Amino acid sequence: MRKNIVAGNWKMNKTLQEGIALAKELNEVLANERPNCDVIICTPFIHLASVTPLVDSAKIGVGAENCADKESGAYTGEVSAAMVASTGAKYVILGHSERRAYYHETPEILKEKVRLALANGLTPIFCVGEVLEEREAGKQNEVVYGQLAGSLFDLSAEDFSRLIIAYEPVWAIGTGKTATAAQAQEIHAYIRSVIAEKYGKDVADNTSILYGGSCKASNARELFANPDVDGGLIGGASLKAADFKGIIDAFN
Ligand code: PGA
Repeated sequence: MRKNIVAGNWKMNKTLQEGIALAKELNEVLANERPNCDVIICTPFIHLASVTPLVDSAKIGVGAENCADKESGAYTGEVSAAMVASTGAKYVILGHSERRAYYHETPEILKEKVRLALANGLTPIFCVGEVLEEREAGKQNEVVYGQLAGSLFDLSAEDFSRLIIAYEPVWAIGTGKTATAAQAQEIHAYIRSVIAEKYGKDVADNTSILYGGSCKASNARELFANPDVDGGLIGGASLKAADFKGIIDAFN
């Protein structure tokens, strides 16, 4: 059966020293606990090699926030999936709306990134979600379908089974405006139905679908109580150990 997951997305926050301090603090707050969900922290590239050996790997997985769409070579400034994997990191966020909007990542580019991440043993956390105008026009299902089909539906069922999906309505990211529990459940159920149509019920039932967008300790329990919401991808509230722990505790 699918896993419950709370994943942090640090975005472009924290110096190396601050990131190490946060990772240590997370170890401490989880030291005497057995979380009822998988816990993942996705950090900037430069933190990975320091943070990965430092966290208690039985409790905390580490991931990157991006990787290159090329295998290796003359791509100045890029970081490949193989390099991410060589730090011991196990996950990579792909298709985040900030990457799509600010760095012009297209479905084709993301398809390559997913392929390379999987080929290097990483688990992609693949993000989808509509902008406000699309939601207001009632087009959210169509948009999310296009994002899934455009980058993922050439994968075999076996490869698709290795993914985590994150639904993140762009209008809820960093805005303090959360989707209601009912809105989240509705579109998560839709995403699962689309996966079932394409890959069958077993694959769909085993795919973790996370909610992201202003998720915090005060609303996590209500969001995660929905049958098709299997946890969260957390931005702002992952930057303080106590806040992040409050979200992890929503599964207790
Ligand atoms: P937020 O970000 O929790 O700060 O809204 C979520 C995300 O972008 O992954």
